[in-house]
Amino acid sequence: METGFTVEQLRAAAADAVRAPSLHNSQPWRFRLRDGGIEVLLDRGRRLPATDPSGWGARIACGAALFNLRLALAVAGTPATVRLRPYPTEPDVLARLVPDVPRRPTPTEQMLYGVIPHRFSNRAPFWPDPVPADVRWRLGEAARAEQGWLEMVIGVSAVNAFAEVARSANRVLERDPAYRAELAEWVRSAPAPDGVPAAAGGPLGEPQDLLPSRGFGGRSRAPGRDFEPEPLVAVLGTAGNTTTDQVVAGQALQRVLLTATDAGLGVSMMSQPIEVPGAREALRLSLGRFGTPQMVMRIGYGQPGSPTPRRSVDEVLDVPVGQA
Ligand SMILES: Cc1cc2nc3c(=O)[nH]c(=O)nc-3n(C[C@H](O)[C@H](O)[C@H](O)COP(=O)(O)O)c2cc1C
Repeated sequence: METGFTVEQLRAAAADAVRAPSLHNSQPWRFRLRDGGIEVLLDRGRRLPATDPSGWGARIACGAALFNLRLALAVAGTPATVRLRPYPTEPDVLARLVPDVPRRPTPTEQMLYGVIPHRFSNRAPFWPDPVPADVRWRLGEAARAEQGWLEMVIGVSAVNAFAEVARSANRVLERDPAYRAELAEWVRSAPAPDGVPAAAGGPLGEPQDLLPSRGFGGRSRAPGRDFEPEPLVAVLGTAGNTTTDQVVAGQALQRVLLTATDAGLGVSMMSQPIEVPGAREALRLSLGRFGTPQMVMRIGYGQPGSPTPRRSVDEVLDVPVGQA
């Protein structure tokens, strides 16, 4: 009887895991097989010290990769039981997956898995068409299914108040030369397996923009193609803010992103107000709910785009000698 996952299963599922989003497309993950279990590790060498000194962003990215890994295994017929932070003495091992009872994938698992290759960060302006209530509800359900919450920022004055917090957080970050240097280091003008291609960075920010953009050095926008005046802003959060909560948040984020992709929506992430502690606290208080904001998203109907590159699977696997 099969007692654990195989290298082939690891390799196939990791190919989907690496499609997860990460801060500046830094891809701070590794995957390994140990005692028949697949383990997800945070790759300290790929953390962004100036932008993400606490490792929050790297754990969110690894959580998102973990969600894809879970889907891939489930769709292949062997769902996994997951333990987060399984070894107290090895904090960089964020999750361990062992085979559960084989079963057919559910229609939801198949749907979510099917859109993994189509999801991408859409940083361009969206059309003004509103996102219908039933679709917003689906996005909230996606977050709740993974122990997260999703709060929509509703109404012009609430969106304006949020925008003020986000812009001031962005100003705080941009005052830091180390932050600016790190950002510049991850922008790619030639093809590369990581970092943000300048062409995917969205239009250059302009003074009339309500929300800050990250400054990945994109192109000037076409005349009249400003950002939507009343964007749909959603805040994803978790009950607490331990390192485990951040891995939970990453899984919830990825489920929301894939659900949005299936609904034909574009999403861009905006984490400046999460990265600056004062802004994060202001955001938490403005939402008037318990828990911790972990990510902000701008959601809407946009133009098609294409996924950004990733490193090859071989670069992110730790496979025991003789099994490669
Ligand atoms: C923790 C985290 C924070 C992010 N913050 C931002 C952000 O502030 N602005 C932005 O445009 N994209 C942000 N992103 C999106 C990444 O830049 C993006 O996922 C990465 O470049 C890969 O591109 P893809 O999402 O198209 O696959 C963030 C992603 C993660 C996981």
